[in-house]
Amino acid sequence: MKPNIINVSLNNKFNDFSYPIFIDNSLLSNCEEILKKFVFKRKVILIHDNFFSFECKNNEQFISFIETIKKLTESLNLISIPGGDTSKNISQLEYILEKSLSFKIDRSSLIIAFGGGVIGDIAGFAASILLRGIDFIQIPTTLLAQVDSSVGGKTGINSSKSKNLIGSFHQPIAVISDIDILKTLPKREFLAGMVEVIKYGLIYDVKFFNSIENNFKDILNYDQLKLNEVIYKSCKIKSLIIKNDAKENGKRALLNLGHTFGHAIESFGKYNGTIIHGEAVSIGICLAFRLSSKMGYCSQIETERVVSFFKKLTLPTSLKDVKNLNITTSKMLKKFKYDKKNKNNQLTFILNEKIGKSFIKNNMDENILTEFLNDEI
Ligand SMILES: NC(=O)c1ccc[n+]([C@@H]2O[C@H](COP(=O)([O-])OP(=O)(O)OC[C@H]3O[C@@H](n4cnc5c(N)ncnc54)[C@H](O)[C@@H]3O)[C@@H](O)[C@H]2O)c1
Ligand SMILES: [Zn+2]
Repeated sequence: MKPNIINVSLNNKFNDFSYPIFIDNSLLSNCEEILKKFVFKRKVILIHDNFFSFECKNNEQFISFIETIKKLTESLNLISIPGGDTSKNISQLEYILEKSLSFKIDRSSLIIAFGGGVIGDIAGFAASILLRGIDFIQIPTTLLAQVDSSVGGKTGINSSKSKNLIGSFHQPIAVISDIDILKTLPKREFLAGMVEVIKYGLIYDVKFFNSIENNFKDILNYDQLKLNEVIYKSCKIKSLIIKNDAKENGKRALLNLGHTFGHAIESFGKYNGTIIHGEAVSIGICLAFRLSSKMGYCSQIETERVVSFFKKLTLPTSLKDVKNLNITTSKMLKKFKYDKKNKNNQLTFILNEKIGKSFIKNNMDENILTEFLNDEI
């Protein structure tokens, strides 16, 4: 069996570093060959979403993955964490850190994150600070995690102030994306993942956007070939964008299209599932396009095309769709101040010239933003 492999190579002044992303069906039940080199005889801590357990049905991939690890090492310990953004907090992190240390890990120990973006982000962050940093592998189990969060090395947890404000850059040593694991994913979560897929088309590649638009029914119906292509293409685009900007000092910020608005919206939901990351970003992208049109950067037609595609996918597209979150312009502006892209108190947004071409807008005029939000809310 030969899975698709993308090598993420990161160039910086000090060293070159690269790691593989494996993408295919049936990977987790046939991964001994792949894992041998990474796992052999190391102490492994498997941090997994509690959706996966020995008791639960539809769990063959999880069980067979564990059996493979056991063949490769005598030391395997499991830590189970609930999925969902409520878990991305300091007390859950402390639990992971203390529990991992109780297994007497050393610097050659390996963390494996088995779950969605939440598990990947928090387990990756734990790996980055345990003993000042140990290796970790990502086994993403949601569409969002396979196309986005497992790639690129951003790890972290949320703060009460806003999203992902505490964290580090820590690249995995490998990512294994088995498409079969997505079969149990609820439709709502699948659609949330589609938002990040569409994001790549919108920021970088109009042809990719066209093809998602043309094939979305097959993708939603789980057409294996098309799903495989979409995941591959998304990871390819992300790896190209981060190649020369691993720590987001420049172009990598484009991947944040819709996220300044999205993170703020998400934090109004208190991470309790009222609104999930991909849904908040769906609204955020539509807002970014409408703001781009308002400021004269992008044609109204392009913006309408984007918004109507999200609507077709039954995703939220406006702040009016989340009235229950009691968002106001002033509260929203306060949230923007915490955005990691800001410099010297100036707000930065990612806007679009057209579909397939995003740009970084520094020094955003707060009066324009206020007027825009007043119209939107
Ligand atoms: N690090 C990054 O670069 C990056 C990028 C994008 C998003 N993120 C983060 O990722 C998080 C969102 O990730 P997510 O959408 O994967 O959320 P998640 O990890 O909470 O998973 C969503 C839900 O799906 C369940 N689940 C996971 N795998 C399943 C499966 N195979 N079958 C059935 N249910 C399954 C989980 O238990 C959870 O309830 C956010 O915190 C976001 O900030 C990080
Ligand atoms: Zn995102």
